[in-house]
Amino acid sequence: MFVKLACYSCHEVKGETFPAPTDKEKVGPELSAMAPLHEPEYFAEAIINPSAVIEQGKGYTAPDGSSKMPSFNHLLTVEETADLVAYLKALGRAGGGHATH
Ligand code: HEC
Repeated sequence: MFVKLACYSCHEVKGETFPAPTDKEKVGPELSAMAPLHEPEYFAEAIINPSAVIEQGKGYTAPDGSSKMPSFNHLLTVEETADLVAYLKALGRAGGGHATH
């Protein structure tokens, strides 16, 4: 789903070989570093309702105050959303070998 929806056009994912982000205006945070920082619910919300939480001061906000990330609601089933969240959460474990919290 990450590839199908071209999430990589705005998000770099370290350790993956997706094409580099192309949309410089709307580019979002690198995602592999995010996995350990957030609960799955946070990622689900970030995909369903990007404007719910927007980190300030990084150019992530459009002039109208909403997120520059489009909503993917109309494109994703619940199952696909869960798959994406599982993927994002799994990124943090790659190559880390960190102890679990
Ligand atoms: C048009 C550019 C764009 C596309 C396409 C895009 N994003 Fe984003 N994304 C952003 C921006 C900008 C932010 C930061 C603002 C925010 O949190 O909404 C963001 C934030 C996020 C966050 C929250 C990160 C954090 O720690 O706060 C997640 C998770 C995320 N995106 C996942 C995805 C996924 C999964 C897809 C594909 C379905 C996707 N994005 C497609 C631009 C994009």
